Amino acid sequence: MANLAEIENGLLDRRIFSAPEIYDQELEKIFARAWLFLGHECQLPDIHDFITAYMAEDPVIVWRDGEGEIHAFLNMCRHRGNRLCRADDGNASSLMCSYHGWTFGANGGLQAVPGHKEVYGSDFDFAEWGLVEVAQLEIYKGLIFATFDPTAPPLLDYIGPQKPHFDFLLDRRAGGTELLGGVHKWVMKTNWKYPADNFGGDDGHHIVTHASVREVPVDTVDYGADMKNQYSRHAPGMSDDDAKKMNDFLALQPAGTIREYFRETFPETLDRIGEEAYRKNVVETLFPNLSINTYRHMIRVWHPRGAGETEMWSYCLVDKEAPQAVKDEMRLHLTQPFGPAGNFEQDDIKNWENCTSAARGWMARQYPQNVQAGLSNEPEAELGRKIGERLRAIYIKWALLMEAKGWGEVDLKSSNWK
Ligand code: FES
Ligand code: FE
Repeated sequence: MANLAEIENGLLDRRIFSAPEIYDQELEKIFARAWLFLGHECQLPDIHDFITAYMAEDPVIVWRDGEGEIHAFLNMCRHRGNRLCRADDGNASSLMCSYHGWTFGANGGLQAVPGHKEVYGSDFDFAEWGLVEVAQLEIYKGLIFATFDPTAPPLLDYIGPQKPHFDFLLDRRAGGTELLGGVHKWVMKTNWKYPADNFGGDDGHHIVTHASVREVPVDTVDYGADMKNQYSRHAPGMSDDDAKKMNDFLALQPAGTIREYFRETFPETLDRIGEEAYRKNVVETLFPNLSINTYRHMIRVWHPRGAGETEMWSYCLVDKEAPQAVKDEMRLHLTQPFGPAGNFEQDDIKNWENCTSAARGWMARQYPQNVQAGLSNEPEAELGRKIGERLRAIYIKWALLMEAKGWGEVDLKSSNWK
């Protein structure tokens, strides 16, 4: 795998965006090992509530049992493999498979098999045929994550230096966060890594990809006008003057209702997360496929669907204690520009799809992709990471996991995991 992603030279083999055999290895070595996002606690407020989600191609059911504990199971009947639950969400103390009637409880246990004694004999062991549960499940400030790998490191070690970025999104107010409405879902003909790296570090695409949208203009902030500003977005405060820093933060928030809400609640946020409150905006990818955009109040998951297709799930996340008018404004601020018909979204998707389809050509595959931005004579970004560093960090993680035999060979404390 080392020759597929020569990060030190800033080169990526195009086959990693198109080859089915590499994709198959990604399912095993990345998605079956990594911590993956499943949903938000607010989606399961009561006992026996459930939602369905995906861990890469694997459908899962996230289910709160009778004791209130949240589990995640493969959404797969243990008999012949039928999908046990076809609803997006609901409440049930048990679910019966629609094929032959095997029935499972919210703790995953197999409860009933029609005519089991006559068909399978009296030795049939119900305990052996319960739902397949994830190896580990953890909740961080409302977000539910799981991994199929029992040797995966604790979630916070996995998140590592990205934790403050998530705190900026999740911990602004005492009441925490909640999702608004349902999940926006659609399918794009792109390899999953294009959108993941786009949100995770391709800062340079804004001024070109979204040039026409900004001219309309659809936003109250011209946040793309200054390249330096783009590359310093992830820096902590820009001056020692707290008031100035706060105003810098507010100036980059949407004018009107949302900006006034952030102005009023800024002292609370500062109290809760300290210097991180000045961060202005975070657009980040938690490897492999969870992205956040705090300016848009957005969480999204790039579920892979083969080497050339991705199913997008997009969520609107807001402070639970925000007034309804602010929540409504935040929902519009997300769904107008970002969604199947969103103007920003269409700009991005067409580029990702064309990169993906081009990578299928035999001749095109003979030429590597360039992720060399900032590699030579790398300029210091203002108080932030260097240009291109975040983008390459994603492919460093990709190569680490693709090459490793297991988590034992991955050193999360190394500078390679950031
Ligand atoms: Fe589910 Fe047969 S496949 S009961
Ligand atoms: Fe974009």
